[in-house]
Amino acid sequence: MHVFVAGGAGYVGAKLIPELLNNGYKVTVYDLYIYGNVLAPHENLVEIKGDVRDLALLDSSLKNIDSVIHLACISNDPSFELNPDLGRSINLDCFEPFVEIAKKNGVKRFIYASSSSVYGVKEESNVTEDMELEPLTDYSKFKAECEKILFKHMSPEFICSVVRPATVCGYSKRQRLDLVVNILTNLAYHTGTVKVMGGSQLRPNIHIDDMVRAYLLLLTAPAELIHGEIFNVGYHNHSVFDIGKMVENIVSQKRPISLEIHPTNDPRSYQVCSEKIYKILGFSPQKTIGNAIEDLLQAFDSGILENPLENSNYYNIKKMKEIDLV
Ligand SMILES: NC(=O)c1ccc[n+]([C@@H]2O[C@H](COP(=O)([O-])OP(=O)(O)OC[C@H]3O[C@@H](n4cnc5c(N)ncnc54)[C@H](O)[C@@H]3O)[C@@H](O)[C@H]2O)c1
Repeated sequence: MHVFVAGGAGYVGAKLIPELLNNGYKVTVYDLYIYGNVLAPHENLVEIKGDVRDLALLDSSLKNIDSVIHLACISNDPSFELNPDLGRSINLDCFEPFVEIAKKNGVKRFIYASSSSVYGVKEESNVTEDMELEPLTDYSKFKAECEKILFKHMSPEFICSVVRPATVCGYSKRQRLDLVVNILTNLAYHTGTVKVMGGSQLRPNIHIDDMVRAYLLLLTAPAELIHGEIFNVGYHNHSVFDIGKMVENIVSQKRPISLEIHPTNDPRSYQVCSEKIYKILGFSPQKTIGNAIEDLLQAFDSGILENPLENSNYYNIKKMKEIDLV
């Protein structure tokens, strides 16, 4: 099976691609490589430096592809808000043509990475996939719009499925240190301070290895179980304060840590329920936030991540400020 991963050189892609290759898939990565290229060459890996807005290149690249996993986007609120027109052009405007081109070229399965941020602020203790969406930012609004666009094009020959990942955590060769568990662990390790912003907001997280397992599962799941379905993919819904305490407990085995609480203007809070993917596909996460923190500490100890407090490769907003993407 040949899988086309748009955005496959990103944080999640950098872990997903080797797993796909290990599992015998042929893989095409289609990416702008905004954060560099950490993918090792492989006989079954084709890499195309391309923009998802370049419809002609997409068309010629989507030949003999069985499945698409679409991860490419300006993937957090601050980076998006830096240049909303650019964000819209990548995260929304080219989405429908991309889906149409994939369908026209005979792609059989299209898996889209949405986000659990589409729920916005929710009081309910179990936010399920059928609940009303209240996206607070354009990044989240466009994720919600793309979900609908994708399902408009589904047909018995074109299986469409959406995942709404929780915030991903843990080590990847293309590291992101701008995601909550990763931020707190990095600061604790390198500055001795865990800076919690707010604290009471509930944030679901998912270990990056489990996220990768979920994509692999969706590639092989029986079509009738995933067609037109949306799956939350998260693990525990901890408060940001609790995550800070976990980081403090683990990192303090290495160095003294102080925990500080600061005000925040980011109210997003939701408790995502990931029962559906368990009930329908038998998927349950195998790794904890603690595992993610430990994996990051190991990476920091080994020195594999260069200059983790400053390096723009690890911070989407810093990188987007540096480059001149139009
Ligand atoms: N990481 C998370 O916590 C998280 C949570 C929920 C949803 N998601 C979604 O999962 C997907 C993957 O997330 P990630 O953390 O790996 O993101 P990332 O920012 O690390 O990766 C995105 C990749 O897309 C590429 N890209 C950006 N614009 C492009 C364009 N115009 N054409 C081609 N490639 C382009 C970038 O170069 C990058 O390699 C994203 O869609 C994101 O919104 C991620």
